[in-house]
Amino acid sequence: MIVVLGSRGQLGQALKDAIGEAPEHLFLSRASRDYCGDITDTAGLTETLMDIRPNIIINAAAFTAVDLAEQEMEAAMAANAKAPGVMAQIAAKINALLIHYSTDYVFDGSGQKPWEETDACAPLSVYGKSKLLGEQAISASGAKHFILRASWVYSHHGNNFLKTMLRLAEERDELRVINDQWGVPTHADYLAAATLDLINLATPGLGAKSQSVPDWGIYHCAPAGETTWFDYARLVINAAKSLGKAQACKKISPITTQEYPTAARRPLNSRLNTSKLQMALGTAPPDWQEDVMTTVHAVLMGTETDDDLQ
Ligand SMILES: NC(=O)c1ccc[n+]([C@@H]2O[C@H](COP(=O)([O-])OP(=O)(O)OC[C@H]3O[C@@H](n4cnc5c(N)ncnc54)[C@H](OP(=O)(O)O)[C@@H]3O)[C@@H](O)[C@H]2O)c1
Repeated sequence: MIVVLGSRGQLGQALKDAIGEAPEHLFLSRASRDYCGDITDTAGLTETLMDIRPNIIINAAAFTAVDLAEQEMEAAMAANAKAPGVMAQIAAKINALLIHYSTDYVFDGSGQKPWEETDACAPLSVYGKSKLLGEQAISASGAKHFILRASWVYSHHGNNFLKTMLRLAEERDELRVINDQWGVPTHADYLAAATLDLINLATPGLGAKSQSVPDWGIYHCAPAGETTWFDYARLVINAAKSLGKAQACKKISPITTQEYPTAARRPLNSRLNTSKLQMALGTAPPDWQEDVMTTVHAVLMGTETDDDLQ
């Protein structure tokens, strides 16, 4: 039995697609009625997990509004720091595997080298701090776990930078986009596929492959390559133009982080070194540009399954 929490988010939807709906898989969200899907309801969450006693708990739920977290610190901490700790304690008790997700925002963004899993964390924002505390609570729990740190997650579901750029390019003649924050966009489908690959390697009886079981712990999970938000936006908008869309936008201008003040500070260097995951899975990550182009096409040509592009 697999329980997925946060099933309405970008990653939650991708996990639903990848795992497939079946009676032995339970996808919970805050809207769930039969079981508690609110991860900040400690009593409800505990009762749900102790009742179901899944072999695998996948936590795709999180407080992801990075700027809002600066004001709503308690809510961010409850979802991102406390709840993963509760899940981990239960996982340890029932011998379940816990899979959780974290972020490049646990780093301070200094330097230009891609961050390794063992590098020191020094988050700049409440969101980053809350995610780091969540990681630490899981690591300390003794539960079998994988924590996948991703950067700049997007998908054709939900709201994200790619869809914001597509919308703005229909409305404005000029877009100004940050060009000094480096990282790579990670499609939620890739994160979901890597999750299933790790599960397959780690859980004999659920289709384990012949490779050795990966060590429990943190893995960086992102596609190959690196870019800035500006170059990412250019790729998105050029792809849209080639499909006859994004007609209003005539110019995309690069700006600095300083020229675009936000409530939360973000790292300048969000590059993630993914060698550890590549070694564990025995596969190379996809190219980020190809995934972005495919997603632009899916969103604009109406092959997406929700209607939240406004
Ligand atoms: N988005 C990014 O750029 C990014 C970057 C790096 C890492 N990550 C990490 O990747 C993971 C997945 O992110 P995502 O992009 O899929 O996020 P998302 O699209 O914002 O989805 C987050 C989901 O969490 C749910 N949630 C929030 N609070 C909850 C609560 N108290 N109880 C139950 N569910 C709750 C939301 O529910 P509702 O639908 O009810 O609001 C939403 O469906 C998270 O761990 C995130 O920190 C994300």
